[in-house]
Amino acid sequence: MFRRRTFWILAGLLALMVLVLAACAPPGGGKKEASGELNLLCTPQVEWCEGMKAEFEKKYPNITVNFVRMSSGESLTRLRNEKDNPQFDIWWGGPVDSFIAAKQEGLLEKYETPAQDKIINKKLMLDPDRYWAGIYVGSLGFATNKNWSEENGGWVPKSWDDLLDPKLKGQLMVAHPSSSGTSYTALCTILQLKGEEEGWEFLKKYAAQVNQFTKSGSAPARFVGAGEAAVGIVFSHDIVKQIEDGMPLILSFPEEGTGYEIGGMGIIKGAKNLENAKLWYDWALQPETQELGPKYGAYQAPTVEGAKPSRPELLKVKLIDYDFEWCGKHKKEFVDRFTNEIAGAENLKK
Ligand code: F6P
Repeated sequence: MFRRRTFWILAGLLALMVLVLAACAPPGGGKKEASGELNLLCTPQVEWCEGMKAEFEKKYPNITVNFVRMSSGESLTRLRNEKDNPQFDIWWGGPVDSFIAAKQEGLLEKYETPAQDKIINKKLMLDPDRYWAGIYVGSLGFATNKNWSEENGGWVPKSWDDLLDPKLKGQLMVAHPSSSGTSYTALCTILQLKGEEEGWEFLKKYAAQVNQFTKSGSAPARFVGAGEAAVGIVFSHDIVKQIEDGMPLILSFPEEGTGYEIGGMGIIKGAKNLENAKLWYDWALQPETQELGPKYGAYQAPTVEGAKPSRPELLKVKLIDYDFEWCGKHKKEFVDRFTNEIAGAENLKK
């Protein structure tokens, strides 16, 4: 009799404990809901950064994303300066040359994402040591002002050498390689196409044609569209975006081959919101995430299986066998040489 009562009391207590535990468990099958903040260093155009913030917050409603848009070279400088007290958790976008440089300087955190299997070309688009992953691909092109071209018999540049044409004196626009990844991709493309010695000679002549070095890589497309200069060197997807927005521009490519970028992403060493940074990293490698680009005016090609490129023709041009490792490892040296021997970047500080 006594034993039976004890049994029922114990069974009752156990059932109560189960109920209490179930009531206290977080929703979502016992997994703790992700929450807090994510500080994002965002290098693509601001419209895409804003869109990605909104999409991520929709997926993770308890995480607030704070982002700052900064060009590649500026971002790298910022990360160097904040090395001992990082303010960002993740860096998303911008050519991987800068991520290779950042890895070399110990600015990135290694992360083995479960999403890496989806990457189309791991040799090219995934760091062998897992410090960065590729999130998009884009080719460099030339943007020519339509009216200027008509006034010049329909001329548009069709080779890198065309950029030295006397009619482009003071009519060429490109960003400065110290601030912009676009411009650094152009610089390193020239060094690879022409060889270092001839390449530096060419860069001197090309810089002498430049009307103004801009801070951000895509800015020359807008300026050229507005008639401030005749030709800009810009990633082709950014030229397409300006054409879509109604700018009178013609897109052309150098026939001997053009450089291209793999846009990168990496977690910042010492990130204060590491788990949220990993969530972004995994999410950014999903096909449905990469297909969001065009919704926000971004036409780069995706890097993961299952995501369709919106403008495949932009990569069906002659591309050089761009050596990201070489360009990344020499980034500081080449940028310093360009700045000290060819064109300073004083105007960018204003
Ligand atoms: O506008 C987008 C974009 O061209 C990206 O494709 C590229 O990675 C990034 O901007 C480079 O920006 P910046 O040249 O300003 O560093």
